[in-house]
Amino acid sequence: MSFPPFNYVLLSKHLLHKGEDMKRLRLAVLISGSGTNLQSLLDRSQDGRLAADVVVVISDNFYAQGLLRASAAKIPAYVVNYKTHHQEAKYSGSIIALDSLDQTQRILKQPDKALRLQKLAGLVRAEKALIDILDPYELDYICLAGFTRLVSPYFINHYNSKSEHRIINIHPAMLPSFPGLHGYEDTLAYGCRWGGVTVHFVDSGEDTGPIIAQSIYPIWRTDDVDSIRKRGLQLEYELYAQCINWLAEGKVEILSGGPFRTSTLINDEDYPQILKNWVDLAFSK
Ligand code: GRF
Repeated sequence: MSFPPFNYVLLSKHLLHKGEDMKRLRLAVLISGSGTNLQSLLDRSQDGRLAADVVVVISDNFYAQGLLRASAAKIPAYVVNYKTHHQEAKYSGSIIALDSLDQTQRILKQPDKALRLQKLAGLVRAEKALIDILDPYELDYICLAGFTRLVSPYFINHYNSKSEHRIINIHPAMLPSFPGLHGYEDTLAYGCRWGGVTVHFVDSGEDTGPIIAQSIYPIWRTDDVDSIRKRGLQLEYELYAQCINWLAEGKVEILSGGPFRTSTLINDEDYPQILKNWVDLAFSK
């Protein structure tokens, strides 16, 4: 398939006008575990490599190490207990009409509709709690960084419009290969010679949203999951920060409305050099 043609409709937002100061973005980071991506964003925000501030952190897990990182950086951090929300939905029903949501969601695969709606009801309750926490922070972007919960169209529609995508995710594989929770394991188990990492906007599928950036790392015969994860994570940190900076600089165009799926275009003359730096970094680890 060739590159998207010129007749694509440009729907990009955040394009800066000449002379306009670059705005520091306000970010939420959603985590479930160790939070090393969060740490990288916090460090880079502190030392000036990131044109953004992490203003709030949410976890679905009380024991996430990332919560300690947020607290050490004096960033407000919250926990949303999905289990409780799923139980509440079971006993007191849904807070919104679920049928139309069910028709647009592509994350819950249960063939039994009643079961699926039950799951969706719990998810929506938890997501309402997320939104209640997030909205007062007047965020530019919501960054998923090792957040292991599925995100429903209820949450996505709250933040996205046709022209604006405001939820981004870092995924530890070369999408569309190996979506889901085990990117490094799946890449190695498949026998790949190269692994990849992807930063993408979030849509109503699992890891299917428009790709912002990808890079690759070599896999050597002596590697195991731990060693490729270590190599891949170094790339993840670079890619996530670069993508956020591109967003802050208005360099990410969203191409939509043509015959192909929605995609992005990076307007940065240094793009080839940045790509090369990522590959060099992957070889040096
Ligand atoms: C990363 O590999 C990320 O790509 C994936 O989950 C992992 C999170 O790691 N979505 P950490 O919590 O940032 O250390």
